[in-house]
Amino acid sequence: MAGRVFFAAALAMAYSLTPAIASGEPATITTAPKTKRTPPAYHNLAGRQAATTYETNSPLPLTQYQYPYPAVPEQVNPFAVGRGPQFGYNRCNSSTEGPTSNCQTLIVNSLADFCVWGSSTPNGLIGDVEAAVVAYCSKPGHGTRIMPAGTITGAQFMRTKAYIQVTGHFNQSGIGLAQNDTGGELDPHGADNMGNPLGGLVYSSSLPSAKDNTTLLQANNWNNFVGSGVFCIKLCDPTVTTSNFCENRDDLLGCEYNMPASYTDGQFTSCEGELQDVVGIYTTNGQTMSWAQPAALPATLPWQPRIPASSNCITYSSEQLFGATTASASVTRTTIGAGASTTKTPPSTVTAGSSSANGAGQLSSSGLLAFFSVLIVLI
Ligand SMILES: *[C@@H]1O[C@H](CO)[C@@H](O)[C@H](O)[C@H]1NC(C)=O
Ligand SMILES: *[C@@H]1O[C@H](CO)[C@@H](O)[C@H](O)[C@H]1NC(C)=O
Ligand SMILES: *[C@@H]1O[C@H](CO)[C@@H](O)[C@H](O)[C@H]1NC(C)=O
Ligand SMILES: *[C@@H]1O[C@H](CO)[C@@H](O)[C@H](O)[C@H]1NC(C)=O
Repeated sequence: MAGRVFFAAALAMAYSLTPAIASGEPATITTAPKTKRTPPAYHNLAGRQAATTYETNSPLPLTQYQYPYPAVPEQVNPFAVGRGPQFGYNRCNSSTEGPTSNCQTLIVNSLADFCVWGSSTPNGLIGDVEAAVVAYCSKPGHGTRIMPAGTITGAQFMRTKAYIQVTGHFNQSGIGLAQNDTGGELDPHGADNMGNPLGGLVYSSSLPSAKDNTTLLQANNWNNFVGSGVFCIKLCDPTVTTSNFCENRDDLLGCEYNMPASYTDGQFTSCEGELQDVVGIYTTNGQTMSWAQPAALPATLPWQPRIPASSNCITYSSEQLFGATTASASVTRTTIGAGASTTKTPPSTVTAGSSSANGAGQLSSSGLLAFFSVLIVLI
């Protein structure tokens, strides 16, 4: 079963990472490379951060910066403080798009239209470049680098009441990683709360609370694993505060534990799904247990992640998503995952880029608020 393979990959990943991220030792944080450009309005903070005024001379924790997409500053973190300033920039458009883009504003909209973080130089190792990763997207339009055709070899887009997620297999040289890099996790925290990458912003037009399918909304709670030929990225809805599904405590465990999903190479599906367990929380013999990641992982873990049920899955071909698209491309709806049972009549036409299934709905409050508070202290 695929799960065992990923577990092996996750363990390999674990041993390749320094324990710095888990133990929070500031002395071993990867230093950000020097910034490539001087922010044009470095002296004018109020002007640079147009949407909200942050009158400081040093960076705030990354998750405290909120901007409407059209108002993102040139750089969220232009400060030469700690690991700063950030490597790239946040204002990304047609003039920045292409193989040298250092755009650090990442978009996840759908199975056909999403980005992950990758290395700005070929043969990068995430452990070395985590502070300075740049956005690589599946299609043009976001001012970023574009993954070469064939990079994504299998993917699943999952829309739930609390988060959206893209998981799958890829040729990681398409995002600048060495073929043998076992990778690691990117998230908006890091031991110094400046994020990996520093200044990285994440947006989507299809968050669960989206009012339409075009306005990009900011998700300041997200995480992304890349390495060992597998990727996963999750954006948590800012309006959902009862459980933290984007917790980045268990960064040594990889995709299988942090974003349990089908991970079927060669298959491309866009689905709606039930909610995951908060990472580290699992049920055994009817009892809810919690597991905290130690500095070094044991050979076997006391739990296996539960893959939530999915429904209304639409299967696409790689060409439909990332290659030339024809207006009459055929689609088939399937259901996968435990407990999935619903089917729908397929739409007669589909266009790449409009593939996200709409799983919006009300989230029932779940009383995990106290647990969430504890996690904040842990970060
Ligand atoms: C395009 O992006 C560049 C780099 O961030 C920025 O300097 C420029 O002002 C942007 N152009 C527009 C029209 O926003
Ligand atoms: C990944 O892409 C690189 C660059 O195009 C290529 O050399 C390599 O063979 C590919 N790896 C696999 C497993 O397809
Ligand atoms: C990965 O590949 C590079 C270049 O081929 C090699 O130098 C390095 O030792 C390899 N690393 C591992 C962990 O296999
Ligand atoms: C957004 O897209 C989904 C999937 O295509 C669709 O079901 C939904 O009606 C759209 N929502 C709006 C507000 O257009």
